[in-house]
Amino acid sequence: MDNKLNLLMCGTGEYTTGWTGSGASQSDKKIGVVALTLFDLRRLGKVDKLGMVGVNGSKYPAIRAHLRQNIEQVYKDLDVSFDSFPKETETDSEAYKTAIDKLHPGDAVVIFTPDSTHYAIARHAIERGLHVLVTKPATQLLSHHLDLVDLSRKHNVVCFVEHHKRYDPVYSDARARARTLGEFNFFNAWMSQPKSQLETFRAWAGKDSDISYYLSSHHIDICCWILQDKAVPTRVVASAATGIATSAPYNCVPETEDTITLLVDWQSITSPTHKGTAVYTASWTAPLRSGVHSAQHWYYMGEKGDVNIDQAHRGYDVTVDDTGKTWYNPFYMKYSPSESGHFDGQRGYGYISIEKFVDAARSVNAGTAQPSEFDAHGLPTIRNTVLTTAILNAGRISLDEKRPVGISKEGEKWILH
Ligand SMILES: NC(=O)c1ccc[n+]([C@@H]2O[C@H](COP(=O)([O-])OP(=O)(O)OC[C@H]3O[C@@H](n4cnc5c(N)ncnc54)[C@H](O)[C@@H]3O)[C@@H](O)[C@H]2O)c1
Repeated sequence: MDNKLNLLMCGTGEYTTGWTGSGASQSDKKIGVVALTLFDLRRLGKVDKLGMVGVNGSKYPAIRAHLRQNIEQVYKDLDVSFDSFPKETETDSEAYKTAIDKLHPGDAVVIFTPDSTHYAIARHAIERGLHVLVTKPATQLLSHHLDLVDLSRKHNVVCFVEHHKRYDPVYSDARARARTLGEFNFFNAWMSQPKSQLETFRAWAGKDSDISYYLSSHHIDICCWILQDKAVPTRVVASAATGIATSAPYNCVPETEDTITLLVDWQSITSPTHKGTAVYTASWTAPLRSGVHSAQHWYYMGEKGDVNIDQAHRGYDVTVDDTGKTWYNPFYMKYSPSESGHFDGQRGYGYISIEKFVDAARSVNAGTAQPSEFDAHGLPTIRNTVLTTAILNAGRISLDEKRPVGISKEGEKWILH
């Protein structure tokens, strides 16, 4: 294919550029994932024009300096230029509309903005015939997710959710093996980040989103992917631990939970007598200096066997006098350059996740694929991720209303009650 994709990045934060409100990110994504990947895809000829839209234009000089210093001067032939919105003198939370309106049908938008803004931005883009890649959680409400399913079908565009863990070779292999183990019985997932992240997340933690939406979305999606066409969730009960995020030195708003657990009942589609239980726990008050940025492990038990994954510890650790032991994950983003000095992370699943979307949009634009084909391929399309949002949304309602929440299908639509 020789058609290149024009693409707008919505959000200029940690995941896009590695630049946070308080300077360069101290997480494992110091130079971000999205912009770096797209600069490299432009070097490789898949992408053409790149734009970026945020809210506060005055951040751009610092962001450009950060990208020049840490990407352009580190990797050979990597141009970090892009158009930016709003202007450097402006602050405008609706600048995404101006930026999106300058694009043409068949162009693409990737959305890495706070969780509560995903739906409005995705909707605006899809209605203008643009392909959309939206980060997890796709939306906070099931009704909004279903709306994006309908809109993307109506406008015949690609809409993927950026569930990059589906491209982790360990997770995708584990998924295939788990699906051979007969009926589902039990799933338990833990994902956490150190409490220092509460400084980075202060602007929205507890106000606009919670740690379940932010982190459990990953493993809930993996569980839904394993159980696709095998079992369905029927009931969600949530419980939360509190007190750390709201205390000094973090002082988050009173609603902020520390650790959220969702207990979910699953019903087999093929056997009325087989029911399973899943426990999804996420925390942003995990210990500092544990050697990993994101602890992440899960356990799956089926009728005929089980699967155990510790994705944070992959048999590769590095110890340095000053900082102690760290477990790195180059399978996600490999930042060390190639022998020729170029960016060398094209096999990382963080990169692949964005490239798969770029390839899908290009093949639709070239007329060699239809957006619906990607549903059949089992990719994390908006249609294939409905139950992930249903569970997350039910969990939030359960916490707020202190009651179990049912999930069921009425006709073609999933509903919560
Ligand atoms: N940081 C990560 O490791 C990571 C990983 C995967 C997914 N995500 C997801 O990406 C999203 C953003 O995360 P982040 O860590 O980059 O956050 P961040 O707080 O560092 O950045 C958010 C960005 O969104 C911009 N923004 C806010 N409102 C906007 C609007 N109305 N229009 C345009 N831009 C707007 C802000 O200006 C900021 O640049 C979240 O949904 C998160 O779940 C983050």
